[in-house]
Amino acid sequence: MPMSFRPLTPAGFAGEVSDIDLTRPLTPEQARAIDDGMDKYGVLVFHDQHFTDETQMAFSRNFGELEVSSGAEMNRTRDRRLPQMEMADISNLDEEGRLRAASDRMRLTGLGNRLWHSDASFRAIPAKYSLLSARVVPGTGGNTEFADMRAAYDSLDAETKAEVEDLITEHSNAFSREQIGFYKTDYGAENQLLLKPVRHRLVRFDPRTGRKTLYLSAHIGGIVGWPVPEARMLIRDLTEHAVQRQFVFAHVWKPGDLVMWDNRTTMHRARRYNDLSDVRDLRRTTIRGDAVTVAQVQEAA
Ligand code: OGA
Ligand code: MN
Repeated sequence: MPMSFRPLTPAGFAGEVSDIDLTRPLTPEQARAIDDGMDKYGVLVFHDQHFTDETQMAFSRNFGELEVSSGAEMNRTRDRRLPQMEMADISNLDEEGRLRAASDRMRLTGLGNRLWHSDASFRAIPAKYSLLSARVVPGTGGNTEFADMRAAYDSLDAETKAEVEDLITEHSNAFSREQIGFYKTDYGAENQLLLKPVRHRLVRFDPRTGRKTLYLSAHIGGIVGWPVPEARMLIRDLTEHAVQRQFVFAHVWKPGDLVMWDNRTTMHRARRYNDLSDVRDLRRTTIRGDAVTVAQVQEAA
């Protein structure tokens, strides 16, 4: 039976895919159909995909090269629960598999995932897809929400579109963490280079679909040539616009779910749950992007 796609919102943002086992090798046609589905829906949800770290990485490699997790990159001297550097540990467990304590630093920096963001927008070449696999989920809460940044762009008024068209933003992990009370100096001298802001277009052009997208993220801290407070207020206003309910899909996790999203056309955030008592073990692989966004100036023109 060929795999089938079903939209999950009235606006056709996010799709559910059935009749495929992602833990087994895909045919090139199947991989292409998933890529096409990503272009159409931005987010794809698959159920009953019981991955190991190895099968998750193998499936992910159908879509490009894997990034080394930024958590692993920033904490090179720490022991890791997950041996593979390409597996981002999106859990509330420490290296021994125990629940992290309230004051645990990794727990506290991880709370930054509850801000609306696009993965690895702090890299010069930011991420393409993220693939998040649910191994253990909490009793309640802990949903992941996604916002459709193509629809958000389309619905801006003409003046705002003209105003934002050529703006260049500055992104760093330090800017998102600053919003929840961390300072750049909390990260140690060895990580300062990783926190150096990178520049991206605020409006990205998507050559696969011919659509434009608002490239927003909690990692943005400035706009080139703008005073910081003015830049941050515009980013805040645009973010408020982009996460209105008509642009948002909320995923309620079940063990075995695999959710895959395109960081170029969507934002996402984690929602609260009782992380001091309930285990939530999600694991992410991330596909490297293939272009710096500032080069798209010419493409979009
Ligand atoms: C991520 C992320 C959200 C969540 O894995 O990149 O932001 O709900 N996760 O855990
Ligand atoms: Mn994320």
